[in-house]
Amino acid sequence: MNKILLSGVKPSGELHIGNYFGALKQFVELQDEYKCFFFIPDLHAMNTQKDPKAMQESIINIVLDYLAVGIDPKKSVIFQQSQIPAHTEATWIFDTLVTMPYLMRAHAFKDAEAKNKDILVGTFNYPVLMAADILLYDTDLVPVGQDQKQHIEIARDIAQKFNNTYNTDLFKEPKEYIIENVAVVPGTDGQKMSKSYNNTIPLFADKETITKKVMSIVTDSGEGEPTNVKAIHLLIKDKDYVENLYKENKGQYKALKEALIDDLDAFISPMREKRAQLEKNKDEIIKIINEGTIKAKEIADAKLLKMREVTGLLLV
Ligand code: ADP
Ligand code: TRP
Repeated sequence: MNKILLSGVKPSGELHIGNYFGALKQFVELQDEYKCFFFIPDLHAMNTQKDPKAMQESIINIVLDYLAVGIDPKKSVIFQQSQIPAHTEATWIFDTLVTMPYLMRAHAFKDAEAKNKDILVGTFNYPVLMAADILLYDTDLVPVGQDQKQHIEIARDIAQKFNNTYNTDLFKEPKEYIIENVAVVPGTDGQKMSKSYNNTIPLFADKETITKKVMSIVTDSGEGEPTNVKAIHLLIKDKDYVENLYKENKGQYKALKEALIDDLDAFISPMREKRAQLEKNKDEIIKIINEGTIKAKEIADAKLLKMREVTGLLLV
């Protein structure tokens, strides 16, 4: 039996190359080695997305993204979180095991608190729902970017807590899978690329957008080399090529940016074209989501039934 891999990207806005190198690329590469589940965390997205039409579009869009980068629905299960009530039911059961002070130590909560935001209960509870996503499927491996590491640790703690409390081995402890050198892809301003910082290069950008974005990269130079430009170049081209290019064009920031524009366009265009093709048949996308959701629901429901059994909720 293959080991189990599960991950998902919140359907909220355009994907960027940070999402690709930090997460999606690994999804595709691991597809043959693991039994894979790639899901749409739409319940997580509800914390920020309140427009129903935009929600529907984002759900379809993230699946188009998954397919365009190479996730194959014949090999992997693609499913929609909100259509499987076991996720929210398991979350509640876990909620009765996790303390507030424990969740208050989560980075995402602390960041929100530091910004003095009105924090939603859904945001506070985000890691517990995420633990349910992971644990319901006996997940072994969760490929994510560095910023999600703590959430996987929380999922492990919750698995242990449940197992200890109910003297069972119902839950497997998942491991994160983080590729070190792409754990934090820099954005056009040199900080972590993130849709919240307006510093992204969209994953399916056309050449015009790529040009605009690359030209805006901040060129804080390290000895005649624009470090931020080079860091992005190293993601898409091999080391020798990049080292040579930057040696030959030392100090020539414009030429180096132009080379990056061409290389990024060559890298992105096959995925961009595939996505445009897939977009023409939305019914097919909905069919893929629904078929995957049926398969996933069966597994999640069976696990939830066992949770009810060991917790004493089941009367027979
Ligand atoms: P964003 O920061 O743009 O809101 P998300 O939080 O939706 O991105 O992240 C989706 C996935 O992509 C997660 O697994 C996350 O760790 C990964 N990821 C996001 N930004 C980066 C980045 N700059 N470098 C590496 N991985 C990233
Ligand atoms: N928190 C993840 C993100 O922001 C999305 C997510 C929700 C997730 N549940 C998950 C990722 C379970 C991996 C496993 O991208």
